[in-house]
Amino acid sequence: MFRLTVGLVLLPLSSATLRYHKVESLVGPDFFDYWKFYSGPDPTHGTVKFTTRGESWTRRLVSSSSEKVVISVDNTTVLQGNEGRPAVRIESKKSYNGGLFVLKLDHVPTACGAWPAFWMFGDDAQHSWPRWGEYDILESIHMLDYATTTLHTRDSCDQKAVNEGIDFIGQGWAAGTASNKAKNCWVKAPQQYDNQGCGQKLPKGSFGPAFNRAGGGTFVAEWDPIVNKRLRTWFFPAGQEPEIGDRPEPDLWGVPNSFFTLNEKWCTAAHFKNMRMVFDTTFCGDYAGASFNGYCGWTNMKCEAYVRSKPNDFSNAYWSIQRLDVYENDAVMAAESKQMALGSSSLPGLGVVFLLLVSVLAIGLFYFQCSQRRLEAMQNAAKTSYKGNQVNVDSPPLGLSPGRRGRELFLKDRTEPVSPSRASDVEPVPQGWTWHRVWLMMCCTSDAPSQTGATSRPVGYGDVAPGSPGGMNIANSSMYDVSNPLPPPAVSSQPSMSPALTNQPSLGRMPSLGHQGSLSRQGSGVLIRQPSGALVRQDTGVVVVPAP
Ligand SMILES: *[C@@H]1O[C@H](CO)[C@@H](O)[C@H](O)[C@H]1NC(C)=O
Repeated sequence: MFRLTVGLVLLPLSSATLRYHKVESLVGPDFFDYWKFYSGPDPTHGTVKFTTRGESWTRRLVSSSSEKVVISVDNTTVLQGNEGRPAVRIESKKSYNGGLFVLKLDHVPTACGAWPAFWMFGDDAQHSWPRWGEYDILESIHMLDYATTTLHTRDSCDQKAVNEGIDFIGQGWAAGTASNKAKNCWVKAPQQYDNQGCGQKLPKGSFGPAFNRAGGGTFVAEWDPIVNKRLRTWFFPAGQEPEIGDRPEPDLWGVPNSFFTLNEKWCTAAHFKNMRMVFDTTFCGDYAGASFNGYCGWTNMKCEAYVRSKPNDFSNAYWSIQRLDVYENDAVMAAESKQMALGSSSLPGLGVVFLLLVSVLAIGLFYFQCSQRRLEAMQNAAKTSYKGNQVNVDSPPLGLSPGRRGRELFLKDRTEPVSPSRASDVEPVPQGWTWHRVWLMMCCTSDAPSQTGATSRPVGYGDVAPGSPGGMNIANSSMYDVSNPLPPPAVSSQPSMSPALTNQPSLGRMPSLGHQGSLSRQGSGVLIRQPSGALVRQDTGVVVVPAP
């Protein structure tokens, strides 16, 4: 009889069935278009230097293709003084108010001193953290073989009603300061470490070397603030994922590995709002620093010293993401459109101002997005075709026009045949040497002619051979200004050059070829590649990168 009552009491907790539909699928060559690179100081005081978008590319800390996205940390630099190890923190441009987040990984960062996480949080100028909450879907430290799911909130979010083993199955609650269970999500909760939050440990194998050896796995985070009012997280090892598909129904997946209630009585759903997704890897700091001795005492070093002095030990501190899909349910979508409707039904005067503001913002955003997307797309293109060469697009804008911002410029790797007028700009190259042309494009202007579509135009180009060992630093090579048309090619008038060059393996000095009259040649010379593989400046013959 008693058992039966328990059953009946538990029954109302079992929920209204919820189905989701896919709204975003982020993994692909344009993955990084969806994110902002955060390059400020680490709020958790890590021994880290979060890199900008450009620096992340040039240091090759990020890459994206249709199969996977890799986000790594610097593993070559020995750091001095107070320097932090270069690493990446990206935050989604979009913020969310609910949904189902499916993350498939085949590798997670693991290293002594590292503290990687995939998480969500909200804030803006008026609402500082933790006003809009934080949902750490998975985070771990050092080489631990499991991840933890944690909430961080303002006060009045207690999870006492949640039962380990019934509501969620994993390794139970994280411990507070007095062997108590950390069930209070308030960042200032008594008997918990400062900013500990309420944490639940996912099963063994959900992170670390064990996770990577097993081929990874899939995490699903469900944030349902409206219908069943809860946050649930599942971990499925690779090969044991349920069919998720386009219309997932989480209730079919069994008891989750983490469960938090958003029931009014315990923790209202209003604790979480406008949250963005974040990937980051930091080092030491508030969590990995404080626990370093316990887990990594064998290093006989302080966390900070270890992180600064052992770059090679961070070769496994990378994320490899195979899938990141976002799903929503009708309730969340309806709430979102209701919010938007409310926004536009204010006073008529205010409404006009509001609309104007929105239009201005939208136009600004369009230009920003356009240039960002293009920059990234072209960086991708450049990366791909340079295979291991560095293309530095974070450089100052090459003295084109002062004040022109770097992000408006992007590189186009020219693969299409050179059109006759352009061909005339290509200087003669000795036999066996190869040209490779990189266009510098200006985004979002309407003055055609355009190389990549009506909204961009070439403002300059530089040439380099494909596969050059040291790559090409655009800032150090010359860019030609296409708005200053060049005289017809003087190829035939300089017949002496080519034979001379082919017979000159070490080049010495070499007079300038062609391009007389171009105002914008920056003096340092176009780079070309010798048959030996060496990269030389064409105008001076100076070897920029010796033969490999
Ligand atoms: C850095 O890490 C990558 C993999 O993340 C590895 O391929 C490379 O060899 C590492 N470099 C060094 C110098 O350890």
